[in-house]
Amino acid sequence: MIVTLTNQKGGCGKSTTTMNLALGTAALNYKTALIDADEQKSCVETLEGHDKKNLDVFASDKDVDTLAKKIKDDYQFIFIDTPPHSHHIMYKAMAVSDFIIIPLQASPLDIKSAKRTIDACEQVMKKAKRTIPCYFLLNRVNPRTNLSKEIGAYIRELYTVPLLQSRLHNRVAYAQSLMHGKSVIEFNRSSDAALEIKKLLKEVHRIFQQGK
Ligand SMILES: Nc1ncnc2c1ncn2[C@@H]1O[C@H](COP(=O)(O)OP(=O)(O)O)[C@@H](O)[C@H]1O
Ligand SMILES: [Mg+2]
Repeated sequence: MIVTLTNQKGGCGKSTTTMNLALGTAALNYKTALIDADEQKSCVETLEGHDKKNLDVFASDKDVDTLAKKIKDDYQFIFIDTPPHSHHIMYKAMAVSDFIIIPLQASPLDIKSAKRTIDACEQVMKKAKRTIPCYFLLNRVNPRTNLSKEIGAYIRELYTVPLLQSRLHNRVAYAQSLMHGKSVIEFNRSSDAALEIKKLLKEVHRIFQQGK
């Protein structure tokens, strides 16, 4: 299964979430790959020097699709982190994906600016003549507020793309754990951040299994 995290907007949590999902999946003993298709190489640099059981990290250039196809049969899960602003790489990554996650922050500006990403996703599906499950993921939600209903309604007004039930809150653990090259699960498996990443993993795996 190839999962791409994408959004043309920078800073919405693509790299942080990709690393946590890939490390979390590897911790569940699945053979996992992470392809870092962003030239900034945030994932490669963050995980460099850390020996990860069940996880291989690849840097890719614009030929992310070729690399993903080449290694596809060697892994149970492949997570692709994509750059902001590069339509070209985003298209290629989406085209080889079985699942697309669009992280976004719970603000009208971020939600509105996801339009370009959604349009690209629709074009990819049309061209490939197949439906790729594509979901929004709310990230950096303030744990002290409950905007969920309002945000959900706002998203539904603009898009047909559904919102994952799981959401990630704004937590220092996301930055802190990665400073040690660890996912929030490895860092403290009973923390709130670990629990929400496990919930997200379960939801993604469940949706994918149902769609098969
Ligand atoms: N759920 C979260 N809670 C707290 N900080 C977060 C969370 N998700 C991302 N961040 C922080 O937000 C910043 C941007 O995240 P990043 O993953 O680099 O986004 P992108 O890859 O989309 O540009 C980073 O400093 C990261 O540590
Ligand atoms: Mg990034």
